[in-house]
Amino acid sequence: MSNDKKIVLSGIRATGNLHLGNYYGALSKFVRMQDDFDCRFFIADLHALTTHPDPKALHENVKHILAEYLAAGLDPEKNILYVQSDVPEISEMYLLMNMHAGIGELMRTASFKDKARKALGISAGPAAGEEEIEKEIIGNQSGKSVNAGLLTYPTLMAVDILIHKADFVPVGKDQEQHLELTRRFGRRFNSFYGTEYFHDPVNFNFGGQPVKVPGLDGSGKMGKSEGNCIYLIDDEKTLRKKVMRAVTDAGPTEPGSTPTEPIANLFTLMELVSEPSTVDFFKKAYADCSIRYGDMKKQLAEDILKVTLPIRERVLEIREDDDYLSRVVRRGAEQARDIAADTLRDVREIMGIRKF
Ligand code: ADP
Ligand code: TRP
Repeated sequence: MSNDKKIVLSGIRATGNLHLGNYYGALSKFVRMQDDFDCRFFIADLHALTTHPDPKALHENVKHILAEYLAAGLDPEKNILYVQSDVPEISEMYLLMNMHAGIGELMRTASFKDKARKALGISAGPAAGEEEIEKEIIGNQSGKSVNAGLLTYPTLMAVDILIHKADFVPVGKDQEQHLELTRRFGRRFNSFYGTEYFHDPVNFNFGGQPVKVPGLDGSGKMGKSEGNCIYLIDDEKTLRKKVMRAVTDAGPTEPGSTPTEPIANLFTLMELVSEPSTVDFFKKAYADCSIRYGDMKKQLAEDILKVTLPIRERVLEIREDDDYLSRVVRRGAEQARDIAADTLRDVREIMGIRKF
């Protein structure tokens, strides 16, 4: 890890097993970046607390994601791998940074509005804007509440990034707004204290567009809460079953027609996992109406398994090796704390907190 390399920082919340969306949107990019950048990857367990996980499940999730990081090919010799809560400097800087985060801008964040609506039982739609959420939160008519950690989620994420002075933050498209807030908080800090301390971190996609991995249910996005995921840990039988059950349609009747959303989604998945010649073969079959969805799904399952099965096997092995896992995170925590302590010292100093 030499000093002239650009700094990369990213993390995934410890909320469950990783799926193909997490893999192609985040983890596979981490693996591809580890040789060329100074990389720090972590497991966001404090962020997971915003949605109140079962305390017993939280530690298991942290451990599982760590095993998935390692199984997917992240090398602890090349990267700093750590657990967010092992670096208390992050929590202190989160408190400091909250002094410069506006309640209004946090409330307008799409992820907050989504989660607040769910917590308050407000259905989505144009009428369910900030005003309704605000009225519910302040008026507390329903007796339901939204925890403050959910509101300040972006402050914590900004601190994750700024404490490393990261240049690149490889994340999926859905995280762009959080990254924008990170830049805003950094710039605001700079201008408030008349310093050039933080610089702007940006997303990283190897020059391409951020990917959005679709679900198998014909809908837009693969996601844990959508219940439409293929997990890296799925066994062969489960995975084949999921793919064979994927939503399709009655099939093309006009040569050269545009695929419907569920079929376009299958092609998007195929483009991620299959050889270009395989994708071409099925695209031609679609275009001349000879396609058999059963054959396409069989091929898709086969090609997904080529990606996921080797990872699954390594996860099962690594997960059992508690000594190895704890060695990795203990070392990672030390390395991350050294970096974080430097930034925190500067930030405290800039804000006027001085030692007697
Ligand atoms: P989930 O949406 O399943 O709860 P997270 O929010 O924990 O997943 O996301 C972890 C990382 O994976 C983020 O960088 C996010 O952008 C990426 N990600 C999640 N789902 C997808 C998807 N369907 N396509 C692309 N990237 C995704
Ligand atoms: N919010 C991210 C997600 O839901 C997780 C995350 C927390 C993160 N802190 C971060 C990602 C810092 C990148 C950098 O996926």
